[in-house]
Amino acid sequence: MVCRPGWLLLYSVVVLLLSCLLFLKKAAIPSGTPAVHQPFSASPWPHRSQCLPNLSVANASLSLPSRHRLFLTYRHCRNFSTLLEPSACAKDTFLLLAIKSQPGHVEQRAAIRGTWGHAGSWAQGRKLKLVFLLGVAGPTPPAQLLAYESWQFDDILQWDFTEDFFNLTLKELHFQRWVAAACPHAYFTLKGDDDVFVHVPNVLEFLDGWDPAQDLLVGDVIRQALPNRNIRVKYFIPPSMYRARHYPPYAGGGGYVMSKATMGHLHTAAEEAELFPIDDVFVGMCLTKLGVNPTHHAGFKTFGIRQPLDPCLYRGLLLVHRFSPLEMWTMWALVTDEGLKCAAVPKSQF
Ligand SMILES: *[C@@H]1O[C@H](CO)[C@@H](O)[C@H](O)[C@H]1NC(C)=O
Ligand SMILES: *[C@@H]1O[C@H](CO)[C@@H](O)[C@H](O)[C@H]1NC(C)=O
Ligand SMILES: *[C@@H]1O[C@H](CO)[C@@H](O)[C@H](O)[C@H]1NC(C)=O
Ligand SMILES: *[C@@H]1O[C@H](CO)[C@@H](O)[C@H](O)[C@H]1NC(C)=O
Repeated sequence: MVCRPGWLLLYSVVVLLLSCLLFLKKAAIPSGTPAVHQPFSASPWPHRSQCLPNLSVANASLSLPSRHRLFLTYRHCRNFSTLLEPSACAKDTFLLLAIKSQPGHVEQRAAIRGTWGHAGSWAQGRKLKLVFLLGVAGPTPPAQLLAYESWQFDDILQWDFTEDFFNLTLKELHFQRWVAAACPHAYFTLKGDDDVFVHVPNVLEFLDGWDPAQDLLVGDVIRQALPNRNIRVKYFIPPSMYRARHYPPYAGGGGYVMSKATMGHLHTAAEEAELFPIDDVFVGMCLTKLGVNPTHHAGFKTFGIRQPLDPCLYRGLLLVHRFSPLEMWTMWALVTDEGLKCAAVPKSQF
């Protein structure tokens, strides 16, 4: 008997994702949510923006790994069309949550929407706006599923470039453009990965003391980092791509928070800068050019923590990396439990 495991697998993944979404639609939308503006239809994608490879660069970088070659060959391509886009921010948006995701990460997005990504009474009236930043990946999930998700939740921002680790800088640049056009008034922006747990109540409390018109970029700041020169490592950067001994100070890309002023300055700097494949280092380069010094806060744990499921540890934390969707739901239930009792912890622990 001839079996076609490829098609079967694809089919079951699609069915699974669709049922997931239908379930989450029931679970995650609070009653009284205003109806979403347009009727649902999955429009065909526009034609790829024509941007030709630079063959002399491709020829000159034959000794580099293929991903590096690809990056350099297409580095000048910086204008991609928007495929899916949420509605603009309200004028009085306090915190824009911009989460780097991928088309296939349906469960991660559902967990964030259902936990720290929605404003509850703990936000005390301050408006949050959640958007997920996506490129284009393979055939799963199908475009129809993403179009459905976008229609249902109004939080998908997708551009027509390939989802790749080295294209995250392209994502940063296009995100800056979207904010300038659709969300220029948000007081603060948190940019992070879709596997971080953000203690949004703590973030809001921290931000209460800051003026959005002043420069601020706060996170897990790394200073004097050395470019990785080992060709077998994902973060490998040859001297031909970055000559200096150290990277400029930068905040770990797992998650950091910026003021409105810094977002505006970053956009200008990013438009003028040549793209660098590692997105958090690229932001650090722009900050250096702007003369903005990133602020370190020990509450950003972009390398994770040792006992990730002890809610008492979270009283002083703002953001912790590496959470599965299940851990996200669990931790949110624990930290928002008003009956939570923790013995006093010495501050030095953080
Ligand atoms: C290709 O890259 C080279 C080297 O950076 C540059 O001099 C040239 O102008 C580029 N060509 C095109 C067509 O962009
Ligand atoms: C790049 O190399 C190919 C194959 O060797 C050659 O045909 C092409 O002319 C070269 N292109 C440039 C711009 O150097
Ligand atoms: C991208 O768009 C800008 C502004 O519209 C334009 O100046 C620039 O030449 C474009 N770049 C490419 C590579 O198409
Ligand atoms: C980034 O996306 C562009 C457009 O889809 C693609 O041509 C390029 O190869 C991608 N870069 C990498 C490193 O995958």
